[in-house]
Amino acid sequence: MTSPNDDASNDRDCLEAPPLTMTEADADDRSRFRAGELALFLDRKGRTYQETLTAGGEFHCHLGWLPHDDVIGQPVGGWYATSRGHVMLGIRPTLGDYVRLMPRGPQVIYAKDLGNIVSMADIFPGATVVEAGLGSGALTTALLRAVGPNGRVHSYEINEAVVNKALSNVRSVIPDTSRHEVTVGDIFEGISDTEVDRVILDLPEPWHAVDAAANALITGGILLSFLPTILQVQELVLALNSDGRFARVETAETMLRGWNVSRRSVRPAHRMVAHSGFITTAVRCVPPGREGYASRP
Ligand SMILES: C[S@@+](CC[C@H](N)C(=O)[O-])C[C@H]1O[C@@H](n2cnc3c(N)ncnc32)[C@H](O)[C@@H]1O
Repeated sequence: MTSPNDDASNDRDCLEAPPLTMTEADADDRSRFRAGELALFLDRKGRTYQETLTAGGEFHCHLGWLPHDDVIGQPVGGWYATSRGHVMLGIRPTLGDYVRLMPRGPQVIYAKDLGNIVSMADIFPGATVVEAGLGSGALTTALLRAVGPNGRVHSYEINEAVVNKALSNVRSVIPDTSRHEVTVGDIFEGISDTEVDRVILDLPEPWHAVDAAANALITGGILLSFLPTILQVQELVLALNSDGRFARVETAETMLRGWNVSRRSVRPAHRMVAHSGFITTAVRCVPPGREGYASRP
């Protein structure tokens, strides 16, 4: 996250939180904080603190404390004074912020890859998506947001112990999870759904799921796998090619580098995440030579 410009943040340090009162109309106003939602506070050094706002609750950090009631009904993007006179910016966390700060069990997928997975798998509003595994729920949350109120996400997770925390993480961002189904089980043993638009795999040996994915996907549907090592990718690609029901098999990775921009200096950030994972996509097709194969005259 970019640190606030030093000069500007010193000025803001002297600001006081705006004295606004909450009306009924404010409670429905997206530009104001509501009870029960997440807030992200930033101090003048750009450090972030995530908090669920509750009536009567208190936010505490080394810079003092702040009653949640001083924030609920007030502007998102407003400035809030702690008991020790420090002024903090209050905003809503993005999904990327939330994933970075949320409680986790298994390794999560971060914002850079979440965005690429949603676009490279072409997840669309109304889609039916099967994923494995649920893990900490980061990818599930991104998928549920992308399929929207008319779509559906079915998560397979082999390790029951991670499910409650993952579902709690998902609900923190998407309170209505009626479009989400969880099966505790091994996706390698088969997918109960048919006519699935997308199968998304974030697990160590996705080549064992190729047959199940091919059976579940509609023709034209997309399989996407996220893998940390290229030898896993090779094994998956060989399995996809030998299955015969997948085409357009492609692999890519992306690197994201932040920049520091101020009046005195414009330069890349000194640190970056050099590697996260490879994304492999494949389109479920009609096997050549079978029904639907367009033979040339
Ligand atoms: C890297 S984590 C997934 C993280 C998740 N995508 C997220 O963003 O929070 C991999 C998960 O796959 C689960 N898993 C591994 N093999 C599986 C299988 N055969 N069927 C279902 N789940 C499996 C693991 O238990 C683990 O929770």
